[in-house]
Amino acid sequence: MQNKVKNLIKSRVSLAPMAGITDYVLRSLVRKFSKTSLITTEMISSEFLAQTHETEILKRDEDHSPISYQISGHKPHLMKAAAEYLNDRADMIDINMGCPVNKVVKGNDGCALMKHPSLAADLVRAVKDGTDKPVSVKFRLGYNSNELNYIEFGQKMQEAGANFITIHGRTRSQFYFGNADWKAIKNLKDNVDIPVFANGDVTSIDTAIQCLEESQADGIAIGRGILGDPTLIHRIEHYLQSGEKLDAPSMSEKLTILKLHLDEEIKLRGKDIGIKFVRKFYPYYIAGIKNAAKIRSILVTEDDYSKIMSILNRLSQEYS
Ligand SMILES: Cc1cc2nc3c(=O)[nH]c(=O)nc-3n(C[C@H](O)[C@H](O)[C@H](O)COP(=O)(O)O)c2cc1C
Repeated sequence: MQNKVKNLIKSRVSLAPMAGITDYVLRSLVRKFSKTSLITTEMISSEFLAQTHETEILKRDEDHSPISYQISGHKPHLMKAAAEYLNDRADMIDINMGCPVNKVVKGNDGCALMKHPSLAADLVRAVKDGTDKPVSVKFRLGYNSNELNYIEFGQKMQEAGANFITIHGRTRSQFYFGNADWKAIKNLKDNVDIPVFANGDVTSIDTAIQCLEESQADGIAIGRGILGDPTLIHRIEHYLQSGEKLDAPSMSEKLTILKLHLDEEIKLRGKDIGIKFVRKFYPYYIAGIKNAAKIRSILVTEDDYSKIMSILNRLSQEYS
């Protein structure tokens, strides 16, 4: 099993799950540039999956492998059922033990599991029962700065059968504030045998190098860094393989990717929903252009596809 994992994570870079962001379209965009990274779906609630299988979150293409499906929940039988259902399409199944959102932790899901290591271990065993694919866990340094239990927690997940860990170098109470503590991640790496990917605040090739140095992790997981730049994972992988630092995409290249992003969301969700869905991405793609704030405020309220495209085409010309 550990050889299987080694193969899935061989590029040393993964796409971290982000609810409402790393959907089928964004995963496809990351894959367009990066052929070998491990991509991960956003979290899928095991309770939800027990009621319906009709969700576009599950959609994947043949070339999406290696792909991990992330599930959330706290009831072993539902987590097992979710794993059984996902087994055929997933190369790996990841359990969310890091989500800090109030609604999630109140229901004992996400990072609340760090307060209940025995239940978390039961979930790992249940998911292992439901799948013959590797099972991974994603968690944080602890629930808060007084409860930094990530080392014992990671060891317990390993004992329960987890094959791989992604750790976000913050506590639950930090949410996304402050800086991710990459050095702390080394303490986990030194105390478990299964591979560990470090996560938090990697936004460039240089921060990737620094994170790998400080954490001594087997690789890194990237979330927000891909916003506005789905090529980042490829560029980091390329650096790790060849030592060459490829340039970040130019504004004109970013605009081309943005137009593709918009068109693909419309294909997936239909025109009305697709146009609204893409609004959250504009600030990242157009950051740095002249009058960005003004243009963004137009783009995020415009419903008409041809008007949006004419703004983007005009910008493309300006920056070509
Ligand atoms: C909008 C958003 C949604 C997220 N959704 C998830 C999720 O579904 N599952 C999960 O494990 N982490 C989720 N995360 C956390 C990220 O995977 C990652 O751990 C965190 O953003 C830190 O990494 P980064 O600095 O590279 O973004 C989410 C983060 C953001 C910003």
